[in-house]
Amino acid sequence: MSSSDGGTGRTAGTPDPDPAAPRFGAHAQAPFQGHHILSVKQFDRADLDYVFRVAHDMRTMVDLVGSIDLLHGKVLANLFYEPSTRTSSSFQAAMVRLGGSVVAISEVRYSSVAKGETLEDTVRTLEAYTDVLVLRHHEVGAAARAAVVARKPVINAGDGAGEHPTQALLDLFTIREELGRLDGVTVALVGDLKHGRTVHSLARLARHFGITLRLVSPVDLRMPDDVLADLVEAGVEHSEHRDLAEVIGGVDVLYMTRVQKERFADPAAYEAVKGSYVITPDTMRHLPARAVLMHPFPRVDEIHTACDADPRSAYFRQIAFGMYVRMALLAMVLGRA
Ligand code: NCD
Repeated sequence: MSSSDGGTGRTAGTPDPDPAAPRFGAHAQAPFQGHHILSVKQFDRADLDYVFRVAHDMRTMVDLVGSIDLLHGKVLANLFYEPSTRTSSSFQAAMVRLGGSVVAISEVRYSSVAKGETLEDTVRTLEAYTDVLVLRHHEVGAAARAAVVARKPVINAGDGAGEHPTQALLDLFTIREELGRLDGVTVALVGDLKHGRTVHSLARLARHFGITLRLVSPVDLRMPDDVLADLVEAGVEHSEHRDLAEVIGGVDVLYMTRVQKERFADPAAYEAVKGSYVITPDTMRHLPARAVLMHPFPRVDEIHTACDADPRSAYFRQIAFGMYVRMALLAMVLGRA
């Protein structure tokens, strides 16, 4: 697939046997090599199983020896136009643990962006120095725009209220590692389903595992229609709720999200919905004993810190799993997995 494909497939430097298909094609020798990762829509079931297997191997490897030289000599550009703690530092740590190095631009106001440089020119500059680009940006579709001009793989680390594919992959990996299975689980997605890009990506992956979704939000923060349409089209069992109490007793995963203050044009509208759902030790009494509580973080007030010691609270383990998944993805797009 050439760079004129709208940015959803292979990078310009590598030929693709099926120019019409943005998917990876799990049966190829190195299916991810040279590909952009822009949306979860690129992944089929075989791709996902492959990512999770490699991520699990990375977990074992880190536990045993800490790091390996798989990506020795490779350089990652970490380009963040929006704040980040976990995504940026886990990509950075992932690259370092694989023996590579990182050029990090997380303060774009100190870069030429502040002089009015376009995203395209910044991307073409950084790819001249590096082998793979991780991009977070405030506009929906920014990673796809970058991919149109980039000859190196671009990994979407969050495009506005659009998608966050690597977070969804690490969320599924977390469920798999925590529960020992993904097929047929019931997941409640709770909070700001309108602006939360992590839940957009996660919901779109439910189809591959027969996951049932309980979508819990205030009316004004409902899951967007295009995501709901994808669920209907894929036959994903789902239901919408205002009240968490209606579903909490029947879930395997309770996935909390913060209300995304920065995406509200009207501060009064944020004030009206903030704090809609707060998990306390009392709420945890209603969560099944074998279920897990997850959150992509940062948390604001959605999970009381008194819940942290509960063994079902998986969010700090989820953070660690993110590094293994990003190690897997970097190794894959650079053809070393
Ligand atoms: C999320 C994001 O940036 O979308 N954070 C993350 O990457 N772990 C969630 C959020 O900001 O609420």
